Amino acid sequence: MKIAILGFGTVGQGVYNILTKSKKNYQEKFGEAVEVAKILVYDDNEKNAIIEKQIVENAEQVLTPDFDEILTDPEIDLTVEVTSSKDKAIEYIRQSLAAGKHVTTANKSAIAADFMNLQELAIKNNVHLKFEASVGGGIPVLAPLSRVVAFNEISKLHGIINSSTNYVLTELCKGRDLDEVMVEARELGILEADPTDDVAGYDARRKLAILAMMILQIDIAEENVSSFGITQVDSHDTEILREQGYDLKLIAELLSGEEAGLKENQFAISVFPTAIKDSKFSRVNGMMNEVAFFGSHSGELRFYGAGGSMYPTANAIVSDIYEILTTEPIYFPALENSYEDVSEDIESSFYIRIPEKLMDDKSILDEINSLAEKVIQNDKEVIIFSKAISNQKAIELFECGLHIIRINKAID
Ligand SMILES: NC(=O)c1ccc[n+]([C@@H]2O[C@H](COP(=O)([O-])OP(=O)(O)OC[C@H]3O[C@@H](n4cnc5c(N)ncnc54)[C@H](OP(=O)(O)O)[C@@H]3O)[C@@H](O)[C@H]2O)c1
Repeated sequence: MKIAILGFGTVGQGVYNILTKSKKNYQEKFGEAVEVAKILVYDDNEKNAIIEKQIVENAEQVLTPDFDEILTDPEIDLTVEVTSSKDKAIEYIRQSLAAGKHVTTANKSAIAADFMNLQELAIKNNVHLKFEASVGGGIPVLAPLSRVVAFNEISKLHGIINSSTNYVLTELCKGRDLDEVMVEARELGILEADPTDDVAGYDARRKLAILAMMILQIDIAEENVSSFGITQVDSHDTEILREQGYDLKLIAELLSGEEAGLKENQFAISVFPTAIKDSKFSRVNGMMNEVAFFGSHSGELRFYGAGGSMYPTANAIVSDIYEILTTEPIYFPALENSYEDVSEDIESSFYIRIPEKLMDDKSILDEINSLAEKVIQNDKEVIIFSKAISNQKAIELFECGLHIIRINKAID
């Protein structure tokens, strides 16, 4: 099979290296050879650098800046979409599927934004659309999930699905200073120069939306996930929570149906910094990820591994290629399910701290005191564990600038 790689950054190069370093082995294992026939590199400087470094065989023939050259090549059966763009990626994936080419992508932004359209296109053209690397990086979680959802009701899913924030929170929980950890994470390439996508929780809610669309088979906009990230968490919060016996993680959660304490047709999806106790997620540290879900027949299933980086992510892509060559496609089209989204109404207890700059605001002080079930500290600063409040209320308090963290004892 001839394939094209779209984008030649970290993941693209990982895929190329895996596929080209043991060609013979793959021919035996996959049933046919997999040849990287084209690589889309749109930037001339990048192309010249690749040629100079001699990291691609026959680079002059293989590298192209022209996606149409790939699209119109009838010998290319599969495109590996690993660009960092969102809109262009959607275009590349749509056009590839429409041209009858299988697609595997690591691009969570593109998959989350256009999930159901892409499913329809893949079905119409009878080709595979795979996206294992888009959630959990190197963890094989979507392949098992896609089989389990066929004959199980998934009542609960919990996940640590953003490596960068997990690294920051792990270091904070060791008692380290937030600013120092942020600088270090940027130096190590764990956080981007603009870390908003990760620290505001956007990346995690995008991945949760993908998981929820696979499980519920309804269209879900990532903006509809009830969420906030770790932008209002610091070492003082982690220190106080540690004293109370809690670890802190950014937890993505899906609850569905009666088994999860909701009505039969209700679901809720959220991403919040969450204080956990006696949970297996406490051992998921640094750049590692874990997704656990609960099926009506399967019971609890847990998937743990590297949340990203070159070879784990490329490995997920190559696993997709293997599935494309050896199995029939599995699709997740929108079904006529009458689900009710109750994400905003779900209630939990929250840790709430009024930061110094808001301590003079009497209305905030009064409100927080009225929500307190347990007061942790009340002399120099106000820190409480709240009564059960809705996700919507928690988001409102977050938007006022409070430090707020979900307390969740029910995460296994
Ligand atoms: N790295 C990971 O651990 C990881 C894990 C899971 C998922 N992913 C996802 O995998 C994808 C690739 O990630 P990466 O880490 O490999 O990113 P990367 O190192 O930034 O590489 C992306 C490459 O795509 C190129 N590109 C951007 N727009 C393009 C376009 N319109 N046409 C052709 N090429 C284009 C970029 O070129 P320029 O730099 O010249 O713009 C760059 O070479 C992303 O969607 C990412 O979210 C990554």
